[in-house]
Amino acid sequence: MPLLEMRNIVKEFPGVRALDGVSLTLDTGEFHSLVGENGAGKSTLMKVLSGVYPEGTFTGEILVDDASRHFRGIRDSEKAGIAIIFQELSLVKELTVGENIFLGREPSRFGVVNWSELYHRAAKLLQNLNLPIDPRVKAGSLGIGQQQLVEIAKALSQDAKILVLDEPTAALTESEVETLFGILENLRKRGVGMIYISHKLDEVFRMSDRVTVLRDGKTVATHAASATNKNDIIAAMVGREVGDIFPVTTHTHGAMALSVTGLTAYSADIADKSWSIAYRSP
Ligand SMILES: Nc1ncnc2c1ncn2[C@@H]1O[C@H](COP(=O)(O)OP(=O)(O)OP(=O)(O)O)[C@@H](O)[C@H]1O
Ligand SMILES: [Mg+2]
Repeated sequence: MPLLEMRNIVKEFPGVRALDGVSLTLDTGEFHSLVGENGAGKSTLMKVLSGVYPEGTFTGEILVDDASRHFRGIRDSEKAGIAIIFQELSLVKELTVGENIFLGREPSRFGVVNWSELYHRAAKLLQNLNLPIDPRVKAGSLGIGQQQLVEIAKALSQDAKILVLDEPTAALTESEVETLFGILENLRKRGVGMIYISHKLDEVFRMSDRVTVLRDGKTVATHAASATNKNDIIAAMVGREVGDIFPVTTHTHGAMALSVTGLTAYSADIADKSWSIAYRSP
């Protein structure tokens, strides 16, 4: 019995069928990579899994431990043991590292946040991960790579049995990548199932038990990592044979086109007007 099963997921946006009947399974302690070209549907599939796109906005079925699940939001998927590290950084920069880690789940006593307990737990968590980060500093004061590692600490604070990582290394330095993979090896030993999205096939082949390729919202292949190789995976991603004359390109970001800071999106009454948008035309 797989730990997780996603069956025949269909998700549409206006004018786009982002997911067209995708199925995926994940076993306990499995490292399952999800690859595909830009726009293939990887992030959308994981947003369906984590309740970002709630029940009713897609069709298909999600089973965890063989039981059908109906997530109305991220809190529901968290309760089912699913943690996700999004492609887009989601820490609140104005809050401290500790506040971010326990956001919405702050330890409290008599209805009041127990700050010393919060920072004690956050410090312990960061220490266990060998991350030399002070939980009392503002998240925004950290470099992007460190923020990404805090996101990982946050996911782990939930004691998840399923961890989704969407392009976690895009902003990491080489040594931060090593730290991350050390953490992931430990999680595998503890039986955590992981879905790992990356355009970097070296990383994919480093730990994967299986690799699933998405193309145009469809599953084109799921292979045991030991039974496939980079060339086969690239061919499946692009839908044709690719000779070595085509260099493997990794996804890199160009100059900033749009940047939004401090935007509060959860509140309709716009309590926080301190947001700003910077736009630079290409
Ligand atoms: N919120 C949205 N509204 C409309 N269309 C969307 C939305 N999110 C994704 N899409 C579309 O759905 C398709 C799948 O996008 P998705 O972000 O899942 O791809 P991806 O595989 O994660 O790509 P990348 O490797 O670039 O992160 C694309 O055609 C994309 O343009
Ligand atoms: Mg994506």
